[in-house]
Amino acid sequence: MYSTGYHDHGTPVATAEKLVTLEIDGVPVTVPEGTSIMRAAASVGNDVPKLCATDTLKAFGSCRLCLVEIEGRRGYPASCTTLVADGIKVKTQGHKLSQLRNSVMELYLSDHPADCGSTSASARCEVHDMAAKLGVTGMRYGVGGKNHLRAAKDESNPYFTFDQSECIVCSRCVRACDEVQGTLALTIQGRGFSSKVSASQNESFFESECVSCGACVEACPTGALAEKSLIQIGPPTKVTTTTCAYCGVGCSFNAESKNDEVVRMVPNRDGHANHGHACVKGRFAYGYATHPDRITTPMIRKSIDDPWRQVSWEEAINYAAGEFKRIQAKYGRDSIGGITSSRCTNEETFLVQKLVRAAFGNNNVDTCARVCHSPTGYGLKNTIGESAGTQNFDSVMKSDAIILVGANPTEGHPVFASRMKQRLRQGAKLIVIDPREIALVKTPHIEAQLHLPVRPGTNVALFNSIAHVIVTEGLTKDDYVAERCEIDSYNKWKAFVAEDRNSPENTASSTGVKAELVREAARMYAKAGNGAIYYGLGVTEHSQGSTMVMCIANLAMATGNVGREGVGINPLRGQNNVQGSCDMGSFPHEFSAYRHVSDDATRAMFEKDWGVPLLAEPGLRIPNMFEAALDGSFKGMYIQGEDPAQSDPDTHHVTAAFKAMECIVVQDLFLNETAKYAHVFLPGSSFLEKNGTFTNAERRVSPVRKVMEPRGGFEDWEITVLLSNALGYPMHYRHPSEIMDEIARLTPTFSTFSYEKLDRLGSIQWPCTDEAPEGTPTMHVGHFVRGKGKFFVTEFVPTSERATRKYPLLLTTGRILTQYNVGAQTRRTSNVTWASADVLEIHPHDAETRGIKDGDTVGLTSRSGEIVLPAQVTDRVRPGVVYTTFHFPESGANVVTTENSDWATNCPEYKVTAVEIVKVNQPSEWQKRFHEFTDHQLELLKGREATHA
Ligand code: SF4
Ligand code: SF4
Ligand code: SF4
Ligand code: FES
Repeated sequence: MYSTGYHDHGTPVATAEKLVTLEIDGVPVTVPEGTSIMRAAASVGNDVPKLCATDTLKAFGSCRLCLVEIEGRRGYPASCTTLVADGIKVKTQGHKLSQLRNSVMELYLSDHPADCGSTSASARCEVHDMAAKLGVTGMRYGVGGKNHLRAAKDESNPYFTFDQSECIVCSRCVRACDEVQGTLALTIQGRGFSSKVSASQNESFFESECVSCGACVEACPTGALAEKSLIQIGPPTKVTTTTCAYCGVGCSFNAESKNDEVVRMVPNRDGHANHGHACVKGRFAYGYATHPDRITTPMIRKSIDDPWRQVSWEEAINYAAGEFKRIQAKYGRDSIGGITSSRCTNEETFLVQKLVRAAFGNNNVDTCARVCHSPTGYGLKNTIGESAGTQNFDSVMKSDAIILVGANPTEGHPVFASRMKQRLRQGAKLIVIDPREIALVKTPHIEAQLHLPVRPGTNVALFNSIAHVIVTEGLTKDDYVAERCEIDSYNKWKAFVAEDRNSPENTASSTGVKAELVREAARMYAKAGNGAIYYGLGVTEHSQGSTMVMCIANLAMATGNVGREGVGINPLRGQNNVQGSCDMGSFPHEFSAYRHVSDDATRAMFEKDWGVPLLAEPGLRIPNMFEAALDGSFKGMYIQGEDPAQSDPDTHHVTAAFKAMECIVVQDLFLNETAKYAHVFLPGSSFLEKNGTFTNAERRVSPVRKVMEPRGGFEDWEITVLLSNALGYPMHYRHPSEIMDEIARLTPTFSTFSYEKLDRLGSIQWPCTDEAPEGTPTMHVGHFVRGKGKFFVTEFVPTSERATRKYPLLLTTGRILTQYNVGAQTRRTSNVTWASADVLEIHPHDAETRGIKDGDTVGLTSRSGEIVLPAQVTDRVRPGVVYTTFHFPESGANVVTTENSDWATNCPEYKVTAVEIVKVNQPSEWQKRFHEFTDHQLELLKGREATHA
């Protein structure tokens, strides 16, 4: 067995400033007040035996193994629940202590499988570890008496098993579900011998409230709760610390492996973003990496109606390069472009944009952030000077009032949601602004103080009315603003929001939110000591997405809520590296660190380093590339790790553009929807097969480290290098660390970043500079990055997409916990056990007037197209609003979304589409064509083996 090197101190760290000195076994120890004796002893390498204690959970004091003696005190207190005190003298060893501990240990062993060492899970059984440590080899009680050794197993969860026979009822799982995850799905039922762990109301794990985060499994000291993969594959032989490739939380994991196979993903307790927690996706849904659907050999074809031909890497790369050169010779330099991936590493993204700028010789590069958080970049850059969130996740533990707008963290950012719930249970107030009643509005354990069910498309009007209350009721922090912001802009903004038309009473008819709710929300946020705003795609994916980000920044600045812990403007980024892909210069108008291509000094620096002249004019954005393709002037694309055919709006338009191109090169794991229109397929590598870094929503750059060899032979950055070399622009990197050195050399916010430093610190939040050599957890401390903060007047311009007689309902979209984005990964894991199709949520009133019942098949029509989905009748959505997800390509949610987009960034207006719903009994025309096309493409794929030379 390997060791992760993690030292469990038994109880959580205490953070008091006051220090206390005591003596433990004759050794003086100084620790913060509030520390347990167990932790104090562990801090000097003296680990007191324990079973029910672990340092991610509050002390519980049930196992009685950690007893100690304190001079002058009677009895034998438990060291996990007894706190240090100045001058006390503690003994952790002694004859009487050994006797007491050994008796306890013998009792445990009498009801614990003696042969559990033969099962892989118990490779980490702390009962046996502790018995060995105490020297207890036999027991006086025998195993013939009453015991749990034949108790039934619960195998209902696809990923882990519960074997009651190995349970010592230490309650660590119950506490983990409560304290770490915040779901409270587990209880200990019964008393004494009958006590046992129970999921919800004595249900199976699968049927219970459990969300499969795995926190209980991680906390269990025996094999009672264990990963099925661990039981099947056996104990791992290697551990690699890496970063989850799903969402923007960026959880750190210890990937445990054996013979190039992942045994399990264990959340890293030293991980700065997750502190040992995870969700069902990162913890368990990694099986897609070895799914048989993966394509691991390059393929080419002349036309999308030809069968794929399996070819060597050399032939595929030369073909792609030859086609790109031919197209540029025929149609001009600007006729090709590239899309970087928010799932690939920073290093890979940097190389793709470099390839486009230096080897293609144009600026036609863009990223999928275009369709999610580009308004964040624009809005925050203009107001506060940096296109990124202002805090770290831990900051939420100091918030007093939290506005959560257009985000659903329990589904989209689950580990952050658990942290937020911890703070809410400590008493922080929550204001949810969302058309839907998301889970955080009301759970059995936590309730939002306020829910403002805003009508889709009216966020700006609502935020203007919140600002109206804050300004007109004198709740602004004028001293803060006077010191840190452009006062003219502030005065203009103040005068604007104070206008009567922006009052909650006057905006209520458009936003659908009662004036009194708005007034309460405004007061709650502005009067809180620390007010924080967290937001998601429900803010950005609107025609006024950028305006709305500015509304948020205005509000935070006016109330003095930027520049310290507990406050701030916090975009919850969707994909694992969407922050990084933006930072690395993926937009057509910006180099890394958001510097405009027209800036002569910046361009000169890149030209010198890259040895080529670079264009000063921005290139095409993704939607412009599609328009140019339909016009006939754009003919080729290099797409790394993205699937615009599924993820971009108005599918008809996107696929027509793809059909109009002559060479589409897709680099991916699977034949995704875009690859069905491709001419060259280059097998990409999963996050488990590469080295590099991801940047999460907190600007935290974390290591991605290779766990297994790339199934296709190359890491993604190596493929870009091959393509660039074949295009005649040589790249000579031997390792991603060399790419990072180049990034650091050319990017002010990364100027002192290096792999050596990253390995030493574990993760680093940029800016990482001479002034902040170990990174920057909180930004804008003392002053804004742009110098003075700037307020913008945020006039509400209603979207042209409105409910009409023909399309009377508004469709909005989102995500669910177990599926991820376009679903290419999660659909290829057991996560489909929880969700195997997109559904349409509709309010009972709207359903009834249309004769629709729960489970009926319904047709959803917009001015762009029609799709068919199963209906779910629920009051989670308000009347007039329907909701769906886009995890399954055959549902085609983007067939109905429109071409509307944010005025500043072209971010699509995914969150508002006027639709009508009717009951139907067959798939839509689009769905029929989709199935025919998919079947045809799979046929063309099938023949590929035969063609391999
Ligand atoms: S399942 Fe594990 S963590 Fe839970 S009570 Fe039993 S032994 Fe303890
Ligand atoms: S997996 Fe997570 S949610 Fe489920 S019971 Fe365990 S801790 Fe609770
Ligand atoms: S919260 Fe996000 S980063 Fe963390 S494990 Fe889940 S999907 Fe991965
Ligand atoms: S570890 Fe202290 S009582 Fe269990």
